[in-house]
Order: sequence, then structure tokens, then C-alpha cells
Amino acid sequence: MEIVILPTEQQCGVVAADVITDAIAAGGTTLGLATGSSPLFVYSELIRRHRDDGYSFAALQAFLLDEYVGLPAAHPESYARVIRRELIDHVDIDSDRVYGPDGMSEDICAAAQRYDTDIAARGSIDIQLLGIGVNGHIGFNEPTSALLSRTRVKTLSEQTRTDNARFFDDIEQVPRHVITQGLGTICETKQLLLIATGSHKAAAIAAAVEGPLSAGCPASVLQLHPHATVVIDDAAAAGLANADFYRYVREHKPDMQRIR
Ligand code: F6R
Repeated sequence: MEIVILPTEQQCGVVAADVITDAIAAGGTTLGLATGSSPLFVYSELIRRHRDDGYSFAALQAFLLDEYVGLPAAHPESYARVIRRELIDHVDIDSDRVYGPDGMSEDICAAAQRYDTDIAARGSIDIQLLGIGVNGHIGFNEPTSALLSRTRVKTLSEQTRTDNARFFDDIEQVPRHVITQGLGTICETKQLLLIATGSHKAAAIAAAVEGPLSAGCPASVLQLHPHATVVIDDAAAAGLANADFYRYVREHKPDMQRIR
């Protein structure tokens, strides 16, 4: 696991964008996209590169990590709609090639299984962007999610519903259920890129990076992945016992291992 600690959220966004464009330059054609606040710095940098530098996303396809159950795709807080608003509408990726789980299906369990099959049928994901919940979730794999789990329906914890209530008029509107890629599904991605900023993420980052591999902290599954990059600001790094070592490693990387 590579841990990159930077002073500001904006710098995290720039380095995470570098990781993504490096993966594309290496032949990657399929992005895995997350929603929530954490990826916004990355998306604004990708949009800037498209607008100012002519960087093109036209050859890519993308898969969402998760979707609320019971929110129509047109609902402003459905992840299908959020990802369009935050990224897709501002770059040249074909919106018909941006896929997400069908949270409105009459058979949501079957829809979840179908999503795994769809990802495999369209080729695997080259780079998956991840945020992390304060309880250590990635996607919506809440604590005790099986480390080998597949895409499925999950019940959100009250902590997560409370955290996400800021996007809705009140907490009662936050759905209780989601379809999320499983931890096993996420780990099939060629490269994982987790971004976290702010002191409220420090405990979750410490558990994920330096704690035991445990379903108690689903993000600790990154420890099993052969190519995982964690990009965090100083505040999110505050709980790491070995932060100085991670900074030292980044300063002394051999050139061929540098992100840029
Ligand atoms: C959303 C997702 C979640 C969020 C996490 C952090 O697609 O997969 O795991 O990344 O809840 O959310 P923020 O970034 O809003 O703190």
C-alpha cells in the first residue's frame, strides 16, 4: 500500500487525478467512480484538465460503486444523478457508458448480482476511486461486511444515514438500503485509490492502514490488494503511528515508482 500525505485537500485532488490519468496512460479504459464529498477535489481537477488542457475521457467507460435503493434515477441525490452533476456532465465521457446498480429494480437482489456480472462482461475496472466512512466503510460495506463479499443489498448504519443526511432535507429521507459493490468485487479492480480528508476521517484511516485486517474496518481489505494507493491530507493522517515513515518513503521513491 502506498500512503501519500499532503498538506491540503486540493493537493490531494491533484495527486489523485495524477494517479487516475497515469492508470489511463498505462492502458486503463474503465474507471470506478465513488460519490460523496471526498472525490469532489479529484473530480474538479479532472474537469479542469479536460477544460484547460483538452484532456479527453471519450474512450472510457465507468462503473459506480453503489446506489440507494428506492431513489429514482432522476432524484437529485440518486448516485446516478450525483455523478452526472459532479463529473460526467463536465467532461467528454459518453454518459451511456456510465453504469450503476439499479436501485429501483423490482428484484433488487437480482439487480445487485447482475451488476457484478455486467462489470465482468464489460471487462474489469482498471482504477477504482474510493472514499471512506467514519466507521471504515468503503462503498457501503458497513462494518462486519464479509471481506470476500459480492455486490449485494446492504442496510446502512445509523451513523452513515446521519452522515449522509446533509444531502437531504432531513434524515428520514435518507434511504435505509443500498446496492453496493462487495469488498471482493472492489478488490478485483486492478488498482485502488482511496482519498480521505479531514480530522473526522483520522480514526478510520488509522484502522484501515495500520489496524488489523478485519471486517470490523472494511477498508482494511486494502491491505490485501497488490496495488492500493491512499491519498490523505495531514488532518486525516493525524492518527497514523508511522506517518513520518510514509512521508520518508514518498520522498525517496525510486523514479520508476513515482506517481509522476
Ligand atoms: C459513496 C461511497 C461511500 C463514501 C463514504 C465517504 O459512493 O462509496 O463509501 O465514499 O461514505 O463519504 P464522504 O466522502 O461524503 O465523506
